[in-house]
Amino acid sequence: MANRYIEAARVYHEVTKHSYTSVRSSPHYLDWDIRPAAYKIYPDAGALALPRELELSAIPTLEAIGANPALSTDAAVGIEALTRILFCTGGLTRSKRVGGEDYHFRAAASAGALYPVEMYVASGEVEGLEPALYHFSPADLKLRGLRRGDWRAMLARATAGRPSIARARAIVIFTSIFWRSAWKYRARAYRYCFWDVGTMLANLLVAACAEGIGLEIFTAFVDSELDALLGLDPDREGCAALVALGASADAPGVSPAHDAFPFEAIPLSAREVTYEALVKFNRETRLESEAEVAAIADATLDAAVLRTTSSGLLKFDPIMPENALGLGETILRRGSTRRFARAAIRAEELQAIAESARMNWRADFAPIIDVYLIVNAVDRMTPGAYFFDREARAFELIRAGEFRGEAGYLCLEQPLGMDCSALIVYMADLERALAASGNRGYRNAHLEAGILGGRAYLAAYALGRGATGLTFYDDDTSRFLTPHAAGKSPILMVAVGVPHATIAEEALR
Ligand SMILES: Cc1cc2nc3c(=O)[nH]c(=O)nc-3n(C[C@H](O)[C@H](O)[C@H](O)COP(=O)(O)O)c2cc1C
Repeated sequence: MANRYIEAARVYHEVTKHSYTSVRSSPHYLDWDIRPAAYKIYPDAGALALPRELELSAIPTLEAIGANPALSTDAAVGIEALTRILFCTGGLTRSKRVGGEDYHFRAAASAGALYPVEMYVASGEVEGLEPALYHFSPADLKLRGLRRGDWRAMLARATAGRPSIARARAIVIFTSIFWRSAWKYRARAYRYCFWDVGTMLANLLVAACAEGIGLEIFTAFVDSELDALLGLDPDREGCAALVALGASADAPGVSPAHDAFPFEAIPLSAREVTYEALVKFNRETRLESEAEVAAIADATLDAAVLRTTSSGLLKFDPIMPENALGLGETILRRGSTRRFARAAIRAEELQAIAESARMNWRADFAPIIDVYLIVNAVDRMTPGAYFFDREARAFELIRAGEFRGEAGYLCLEQPLGMDCSALIVYMADLERALAASGNRGYRNAHLEAGILGGRAYLAAYALGRGATGLTFYDDDTSRFLTPHAAGKSPILMVAVGVPHATIAEEALR
């Protein structure tokens, strides 16, 4: 069982760490001649145009973040609702022409705007959509038909009989194409591929909530079954998550037998570079049997070691959801802040942003991420390093001090960390994740951090503030947050704050 060989995760993590020296000693130049295409195109698959007259939901974003609709058989899923969900998750929201080239931006943030994630839909009971397996194409807002029939029973088998997959009205499947991200980030890209699935899941959670549709996220499945169904080359594209959308009253019929995948996708670039550490580790994360899937899905985490300091817990009344933007507006406005003004946000705003980390969704993995912050400028909060307790929804000051310099340094010397109001640092005790779920636990920690980061983005934009994901110096970040974070590794950072005024004005022009 490759997944249980957890030394593979330790080695992958170690060799893909960033440090002051590693970044300087192995410079990487982007080869623009082999820049991967951002879209997967099946030229021979039949296209189905999705409705374009989309009125996005005006539900308060913070309310959608805080809610979790039941998986009720009463909530139907129609083609319009599905389209809004797909658009809010991975749709094309903006484009920009730079140096004669068009750059497309999507609803969710993606490291380096490389968009490694593809979405597929297995529909079963969606009004206005024939049961089939489709590929979602964000560029033209179309579904491409890949295989006719109802695939839910087959997907339920691949997840060791999870009832919410069998009874879903539709299943959204997320895959990552490693090369898209590895072109820039090399072997470390495997981490980014799961962050990016996470930011998309953050959007999907709120978009489905806006439709009153319950969902459940699954990350444990027999990989070879998904590869065969979707025609994936497992060393190049891996399934990362399945999302059961809605609940149907009836059990699905028998899925068709699937033969060879019927379509060829256009190559992403003339040549691809293989990063051995990435490919090797990806193989070690695979689940090979239903028994292995069931064991992972039932795994529980060892209790966390709790460290408390003498300072008390700090809690503010968060901004009320109705005082922040609606969901559609938030998603259309979201775009990473490229420069922060060195200005303060209010403690109530940071409380609302931090509370978005509350785990209120259904998933087959337990929460492993701990939330830390470096507060640079937040009214009513002493500058310093904090731990945010996700359950108690309260901050704990772990080290008072003016740490703008350190925050800027830790996120790879990017001024964004120095100028933001608060730098959120998502940390995990990876050994706990590995002990429970094997190498799959390593992937899930990144996926969960991506979800939390994506939710922090949404909360910040709903409040009229800005946010940006950030990468980091691994060991220096752990050292900075020790002793409280002893044994934990940084998994992702998100800076939140006040966008620089001139930059915001330029964007409006
Ligand atoms: C996981 C993650 C890591 C990121 N890391 C950085 C970073 O280190 N520096 C940076 O300037 N932007 C970073 N970003 C922001 C992306 O560059 C941005 O999302 C992408 O260009 C798409 O643009 P948009 O967010 O404005 O739609 C990151 C985003 C994500 C989701």
